[in-house]
Amino acid sequence: MTSIPTPADLTITPRDRRFAPAGDARRLWHGGRVEATAIYNALSATFPRGEAFFVESVRAFREAAPDKLAEEIKAFTTQEVIHSREHLAFNRRAAESGYDLSKLEAQVLKRLAVTKSRPPIVSLAATMALEHFTAILAHQLLRDPTHLAGAERDAAELWRWHACEEIEHKGVAYDTWLHATRHWPRAKRWKVKAKVMLYITRNFVVDRTAGALELMRQDGVTGLNAWARLLWYLWIRPGMFRKIAGAWLKFFLPGFHPWNEDDRQLLRAYEAAQPLDAAVPARQVRRARA
Ligand SMILES: [Fe+2]
Ligand SMILES: [Fe+2]
Repeated sequence: MTSIPTPADLTITPRDRRFAPAGDARRLWHGGRVEATAIYNALSATFPRGEAFFVESVRAFREAAPDKLAEEIKAFTTQEVIHSREHLAFNRRAAESGYDLSKLEAQVLKRLAVTKSRPPIVSLAATMALEHFTAILAHQLLRDPTHLAGAERDAAELWRWHACEEIEHKGVAYDTWLHATRHWPRAKRWKVKAKVMLYITRNFVVDRTAGALELMRQDGVTGLNAWARLLWYLWIRPGMFRKIAGAWLKFFLPGFHPWNEDDRQLLRAYEAAQPLDAAVPARQVRRARA
């Protein structure tokens, strides 16, 4: 059995929160900036379908998982189901403010259809790779407040809450993968993992960039101006993609595990910064059916 460095005292706690405020949605919720709003909206457009896919992919291996991992899969599922619900609400508000997300959503469905046509272990590998992505994005988002500087409070809260739970469950898909492939030769495991990560990364960067450009176009920003503003935002300042590059590379190191970096101090800081009403220990939410 592979040794698993997920901290023994880690608890994965679904926080059943709701973020959609009453009233009109503000179109450029991210500091009035077209490119900032566009990239976060583009990411959010992928979540409802994407996270449902993560849940399906990991749960396909739950039966065979040891008890502790099976429990973690349950908590992971509950968290992702609530994330989907809240991002659906977030996306609805973006639509109400005039954005058309349908092209972006269609692209997600197209990508998922390709992966789903392969054996279940491929879906699990894709989930594991994408969960590494969400975990390192989440780490950056919580660590560096400049990413959400100027954003509307409720929207920023949604993204921080999501980031916190992504860090908390970042080892689940990975541990499920380690367990499911425990009899594979090391070289094969690494090869599949690396190949899938490269494929996912290419699609992630290309699709999110195209998605953001499409939303910027809907705001009347096009051509070279749109490219320059978006690339500057993603790669220079605040430079999210540049800042996660090192953490992304670590995925390819032998002995990699998401919990090799224990970043639970970010979770503690998140909890400590919550207003009292939100900090009430997350009530036990219904578990997704096992
Ligand atoms: Fe999530
Ligand atoms: Fe996740």
